[in-house]
Order: sequence, then structure tokens, then C-alpha cells
Amino acid sequence: MLAIEPLTPIGAEIHELDLRALDDDTFPSLRAALLEYGVIVVRRQALDDAQHVALAGRFGELESLGRDMGAEHPELIPISNRGADGGVLPRSDPSMLSLAVNEQWHTDSSFREVPSTISVFRAEIVPAEGGDTWYASLREGWLALSEREQAEFEPLRLVHNYARSWERLGARPPGSFTSPPVTHALVRRHPETGERGLYLSDHAYAVEGWPAAEGRVLIERLLALCTRPDRVYRHRWRAGDVLLWDNRNMLHRAQGFDETQLRVMFHVRVAGSARTED
Ligand code: SIN
Repeated sequence: MLAIEPLTPIGAEIHELDLRALDDDTFPSLRAALLEYGVIVVRRQALDDAQHVALAGRFGELESLGRDMGAEHPELIPISNRGADGGVLPRSDPSMLSLAVNEQWHTDSSFREVPSTISVFRAEIVPAEGGDTWYASLREGWLALSEREQAEFEPLRLVHNYARSWERLGARPPGSFTSPPVTHALVRRHPETGERGLYLSDHAYAVEGWPAAEGRVLIERLLALCTRPDRVYRHRWRAGDVLLWDNRNMLHRAQGFDETQLRVMFHVRVAGSARTED
């Protein structure tokens, strides 16, 4: 039995759980809690890289972005401003830009044909202030629409392209992140829970078949609906925290922080296996 405490307004914290010692009896309860609450917080963990990757691997095959070819754990994505010398990277370093891109509301790898299903994120070093991660539910956004709007949006498809999230900051993504635009249904059924929800992200820049400006207005309106402040869970990180979230149901975004301080986090993403709307 997991000690689950629902958070306000969404998400849940699980107490007294050592993720290194998750047995086959407990894992299904963790998975069920993740599907129910969308984002799960587990504090005071001591996962190393291998244990982090192994935990994520229990949920399915992992995404490998191929950025660290030859590294021991190519699935482990550092989200960090720590340089090779252990000090803080300068603001001009290209990897600092990817941190800024993450400050836009998104679902992980929505710019892929088959996006990530689940993300497992751990905090190693956190700044004294700022650097929170905010979460909002795409299902709650769907439920907040009128029946008329739900019917109106049902047939729409959004066009996603990671490069657009960089272009908004006047930059281009590194080569390994460049991929052609993909479309995903705006409204879809969660493949595991069967619940309907929106699927959008700031990586979406257009509604297929609509004039560009109108499409972006709709995307911004729906993002604002999902992320209304009273619908958002804001996670204040402590070193040792592990968060798991369901990308098929949750938006998230990072908050900026004092970049003279270290923020060192690690991210592993579970790969999708099929287009969700099919
Ligand atoms: C992410 O968007 O994947 C990273 C979130 C964060 O750094 O808080």
C-alpha cells in the first residue's frame, strides 16, 4: 500500500517510498497513481544514474536522444548549468538556451511522430530560489471547455515543431533536435485510462488547414485555459526529489532562476510505442 497524499490542485506526493527498492508488488500501484494524478512527487531519494535509468525503464523502452553517444547512459539527459569544470556555465553557452526553451509550457517530445509517454526527473543540486517546475493538466483543460467547444475542437490537428519554440527566443535548436514538423490530434483519448483530453504544447505552432495567426491564437487560448493559475501545481525542488509525470496528460514548464547558482537535474523519458490517436 502506497502512502499517497493528493496535492493541490493536481498531482500527488508519495511518502515513505524508496524508489531504489521498488518491488514487483509495489510498482503497479506507482504506475496506477501516476495515471490517476498525472504528476507524482517522491522526496528524499538517493538515486544514482543507473538506478534512475532502471526506474524509468520499468515503465517501458526509453527515449535516447543520441546526444551523449558513448556515454554510459545515453538515455539520461542532463538539464543543468554545470560546466565541465564543475562551475556555472556562462549565460552565452548554447545549453543555457535549452533551459530557457523549457520555460515555455510543453509536453515532452510532442514534436516527435511518437512522443514520450512518461518522464522521470531527479534533482541533484537546486538553487536557493526559483527553478521551480510548474504542471498543468490537459484533461482538466478539456473538462473546462463547453460541450460546444469540445465538439468544435474534436476534428482539429496541431502542427508541432521544436524549432518554433527556439525561434520564439531568436535561436535555432542544435542539429540533433532538428526534425520535420509533425501533426497530432488536438483532442485524444489517453491510451491507458481511456479519458479524453487536449494534447497541446508550445511546440505546437499552427492548426492544420487554418491561417497561421488564427491557429496560434487558439493554441495560446487553450494553453491559457489549461494553465490558469488555480489549475497549476508548482513544484519547489529540493535535492533528492524525484518527479514522475505523464506527458499524455500533463503540461509542464520550468521557471527561471539566478543563473549564478547551480541547478543540476537529470531527466529520463519513456518512449511512446504508437501514435496516441490511432
Ligand atoms: C523540462 O522541461 O523538461 C525541464 C523542466 C525543468 O527543468 O524544470
